[in-house]
Amino acid sequence: MTKILIINGPNLNMLGKREPEIYGNQTLDDIMNQAIAEGKRCGFEVVWMQSNKEDELISAIQEAREKYRAIIINAAAYTHSSIAIMDALKSFDGQIIEVHLSNVYQREEFRHVSYISPVANGIVCGFGGNGYLLAIQGIKGNI
Ligand code: DQA
Repeated sequence: MTKILIINGPNLNMLGKREPEIYGNQTLDDIMNQAIAEGKRCGFEVVWMQSNKEDELISAIQEAREKYRAIIINAAAYTHSSIAIMDALKSFDGQIIEVHLSNVYQREEFRHVSYISPVANGIVCGFGGNGYLLAIQGIKGNI
């Protein structure tokens, strides 16, 4: 079965408790279960990970080569700072979709800069947890 890796960066493990007025009330587990179900519906096996550590995110991207057809990544705050994550994504051989729960372009200016966007095939932001489902559908449409 075609495999998709969903990578979540720092502080996303706090969803549900963290700034609910921005990020909503769903927990990361709620979103994960919906993404796995949407993956199944689209014929994909979804593998999910979250880490607060930049090195673990980079290793996950490196190890995804030749194993996954696509990476969906919400690098959270590392989106706006990590050249190392961008470089790791450059060596990935499948589709890359950048996801953010919030509309980062409506927020502080430092969130308007993304090191992921230049290497992503598509970007979804501002749809809360549904953004991950839209990303899965987008991959389905592009395969
Ligand atoms: C986020 C947006 C980032 O700016 C922020 O640092 C996050 C979450 C989002 O999903 O909206 O942690 O990636």
